[in-house]
Amino acid sequence: MEKKKTKKKEVPVSVKGMHDIYGEDFYRYQGFIEKASEVAMYYGFTPIETPTLEDEAVFTSGVGKNTDIVEKEMYELKTKGGSHLVLRPEGSAAVMRAYLENGMQSWPHPVMFYYSGNFFRHERSQKGRYRQFKQFGLESLGSSKSIMDAIIIHTTMTVLCAAGLKDLTIEINSIGGEDSREKYLKELTSYYRKNINDMPTAEQKRLKTNPLRLLDSKDPKMIAINEDAPDSISSLTPADRQHFKEVLEYLEELEIPYVINNHLVRGLDYYTRTVFEIYQGEPKKKESEENGESKKDDENENTNQEGSARIALAAGGRYDNLSESLGSKKNVPGVGVAIGIDRILMLDDAKKLTPKLVKKPKVYFIQIGFEAKLKSLHIIEILRKAHIPIKQTLNKDSLSAQLGLAEKLEIPYCIIFGQKECLDNNVIIRNMETHKQDTVNIDDLKDHLKTLK
Ligand code: HAM
Repeated sequence: MEKKKTKKKEVPVSVKGMHDIYGEDFYRYQGFIEKASEVAMYYGFTPIETPTLEDEAVFTSGVGKNTDIVEKEMYELKTKGGSHLVLRPEGSAAVMRAYLENGMQSWPHPVMFYYSGNFFRHERSQKGRYRQFKQFGLESLGSSKSIMDAIIIHTTMTVLCAAGLKDLTIEINSIGGEDSREKYLKELTSYYRKNINDMPTAEQKRLKTNPLRLLDSKDPKMIAINEDAPDSISSLTPADRQHFKEVLEYLEELEIPYVINNHLVRGLDYYTRTVFEIYQGEPKKKESEENGESKKDDENENTNQEGSARIALAAGGRYDNLSESLGSKKNVPGVGVAIGIDRILMLDDAKKLTPKLVKKPKVYFIQIGFEAKLKSLHIIEILRKAHIPIKQTLNKDSLSAQLGLAEKLEIPYCIIFGQKECLDNNVIIRNMETHKQDTVNIDDLKDHLKTLK
């Protein structure tokens, strides 16, 4: 009889653009987050955690329906009850939602938060661009003063420097408040209308929905058109111009190198006034100096002199109208940033920041025989209470295998707990460098551990 062919069951793999993080990598992420949180704390930020799932309105109203993030990249789901939820693509709109919902209007202002966590965007995945990625964010809510823009940028630079990064540049621009923007959009739209016949079809459509985004288009035809496009700074009202001037003065005072990029508009609709992105390496060349090779149509990406794509390590700006977009009657000005943690950690000069929780093992715990195994966890408990980090291989039975591992891992001490020691209520403590061994009664172990160097 012919054997029925059974289809081999495939082992599931992780979703494209989403990764498992473990071992040393896990510690590097954790170490960075701890360091960044510590820096943020010193500048007066306090922690916040918002849920991973949000009502889609938080982002359709907050970030903007016509942005790439909302229109093309959001992971959406409908619950059994019919609610439309999304996996958060960014943090600022969610933090503002939390501020409004939790009555933080009555708190002393500004309300300054830091956060970290996973964010989700259905983007074309490639190195440094993932579908699940980690951000460390800072938001200052309730103040329109330029010093808040400066503190956000300064804290970000301090975090990046603490992570070992060098050669950082901020590209900065001001897209103004509502009045400046209205004037600017008129000028920009009229400029593009004059050039509409030379514009690609997709960009012609975009002119109707989001003309600002045409400015940082990577299409070669648009790059040429954009060379003579009007810049937003010329349309700023005196108040917006003063705000921008002050932000730049703060940066100069803090000796933070910056480059004004007239074409920087950012991909989220909530921005007003200051917008910025932080890169490593040389600043963006003027389009007129570039060779016109086709560029990737990606946000947060520009090209250096060698023509290779540079990706933004952090980006942010001011969002003075976000609260009203979310339905607040009261205006809550804000400014913030998000650092792309994955992008930081893939850089060669990123420091290995060890989390405080991770301690080098001081003792290798060795047990031999069933009787000893039975009591092992009691001894490990004594070590835990004495705050002695250990390594063990409780699954192993042979002394030489366990000793071999202890030597390989260069752990300074071994505790050997065999049949005899178990009967006598003792352990052997072996100094792995001098090979000196002490027999210690388990009742005295706690005190003896204090003598270990
Ligand atoms: P964003 O520019 O969309 O801004 O993202 C900020 C940073 O997150 C980027 O510069 C990048 O380093 C990182 N990032 C973004 N997308 C990805 C991805 N697919 N894979 C890896 N890293 C990525 C925001 O999210 C705003 N909420 C920033 C902000 C805070 N503005 C004001 N406050």
